[in-house]
Amino acid sequence: MQLYDIVFSPTDGTQKVSALLTNTLKGEVTPIDLTDSKQDFRAVQLTSDDVAVIAVPSCGGRVPAVAIDRLGSITGHGARAILVCVYGNRAYEDTLIELEDAAKQAGFQIIAAVAAIAEHSIARQFAANRPDTQDAQQLSAFAKQIQDKLSLGNTAEPSIPGNRPY
Ligand SMILES: Cc1cc2nc3c(=O)[nH]c(=O)nc-3n(C[C@H](O)[C@H](O)[C@H](O)COP(=O)(O)O)c2cc1C
Repeated sequence: MQLYDIVFSPTDGTQKVSALLTNTLKGEVTPIDLTDSKQDFRAVQLTSDDVAVIAVPSCGGRVPAVAIDRLGSITGHGARAILVCVYGNRAYEDTLIELEDAAKQAGFQIIAAVAAIAEHSIARQFAANRPDTQDAQQLSAFAKQIQDKLSLGNTAEPSIPGNRPY
């Protein structure tokens, strides 16, 4: 089993949140940087034994289009996915549900979803210095619950908030 950390993070907030989850999950981490325009994402092929954290920021309540595009080049082959939406403490609206659709389309099965706050990358006074110590503790607690679910072989799909059409 490989633990993939598939992240789109232009200003590092999403990456910080994702690392707080993957640090607690079991398995050696293989990072996939969706921010890197030079990577050939078609070469990223997972297996059904693998687990992936797929983390994106919320921009205007949506997933950035380029992240959807690049995620669409990856093939999940039934790998279990933990979806992560990171937002600047306004709202994330349809980000998680859009990410759910894109991840399923790429061949992942969704077993968990997390919304977390990081410093707003435009209006820095919002959620300044987050994720903080309290966020780190909460994310680690979420990761423990997710690890228990994985260890039990429980692949039940969570109910994800948001509206279609986005
Ligand atoms: C263009 C743009 C739009 C954003 N829209 C939202 C939003 O709708 N709601 C929100 O809470 N934060 C919003 N944010 C803040 C980001 O979601 C937040 O700062 C996130 O941590 C950025 O991730 P990054 O540091 O990995 O780039 C927006 C940021 C940008 C740059």
